[in-house]
Amino acid sequence: MSMHNHFRVRKTCIEASILLEPLVDPFGRRVSSLRVSITQRCDLACFFCHREGEHDPGKEMTPAEIGRIVDVAAGLGVTKIKVTGGEPLMREDVVEIIRIMSLYVREVSMTTNALLLPGKAVALKEAGLKRVNISLHSLKRETVKKIAGVDCLDQVKAGIRAADEAGLKPIKLNFVVMKGLNSGEIPKMLSLSAETGAILQLIEYQNLERGVERWGDLCFDLTPLERMWDREAVSIEEQIMHRRKRYTLADGATVEIVRPIHNTVFCANCNRLRLTSDGRLKPCLMKGDNLVPVVQLLRSGAGKEELVEAFRLATSLRAPYWSEKV
Ligand code: GTP
Repeated sequence: MSMHNHFRVRKTCIEASILLEPLVDPFGRRVSSLRVSITQRCDLACFFCHREGEHDPGKEMTPAEIGRIVDVAAGLGVTKIKVTGGEPLMREDVVEIIRIMSLYVREVSMTTNALLLPGKAVALKEAGLKRVNISLHSLKRETVKKIAGVDCLDQVKAGIRAADEAGLKPIKLNFVVMKGLNSGEIPKMLSLSAETGAILQLIEYQNLERGVERWGDLCFDLTPLERMWDREAVSIEEQIMHRRKRYTLADGATVEIVRPIHNTVFCANCNRLRLTSDGRLKPCLMKGDNLVPVVQLLRSGAGKEELVEAFRLATSLRAPYWSEKV
């Protein structure tokens, strides 16, 4: 498809969306974003990876299947997609997937380890990818190796440069903070943000699946930093999603805090559904017992109405994991 035609078709698809009653869960939370894992394969083995809460994934969805599901989601009011993995760039057809998704929604972004970005960033941008979040959990080679199991810091840096050159911006740098392992590097990461314009995302380490046995020792409370920046930041922006705070600091660094654990505000303001790599709708990262099959419906010949019903069912099963009642 020529670039001109791609954008013409894209505009038509987006304008054709929002035909149906939007998805609103029993807690009044409207679902406007979809987090899509396109594979559980990964070329790294970070010990704290939560694998998007997927267990024993089955067959991956094809680009056409993903397209049909995203089409339905868009018709129900989903406007943003976050592509995740495993590592999404492990899929050879990732560019095609992005192109199809971007026909239907206003923003497609991706969370990646960036290792394969140098060869793909430009094509991804042309296919409609807006921006990337890149995992950079340390600026020290040895620490990266300890975390990821692979000596890959130089490759990650090359991936960040490729994203920047291709205009996949703003780049967010994902930094899972772990006591004694990388917590001492927060000042350096802030300087990097100030120098490059990337948004530093400080993420709380969640005790899910892998790494759970080390969680108690490594868990790092981000609340004191949040309190300090509440007082000292030059400006504070509250994101709609999770009401996550983004601070601009005096030296120009921008930092966002992702602090889900025991955080009722985070859950009360969660507006997304997940789609697992094997095609099931997942109402919450933290829950594994209420998934709703959707690609399986497609494979058995179901039409759009049945897919819509699957989305409505998954939405009806959404409940804040951390709530005042817990
Ligand atoms: P954007 O703000 O759109 O860039 O998305 P994001 O920051 O949520 O995406 P990213 O994949 O970079 O998320 C960063 C980290 O936040 C993830 O690795 C998770 O640890 C955490 N996170 C994201 N979404 C959720 C969620 O729905 N629930 C919980 N508990 N944690 C989440």
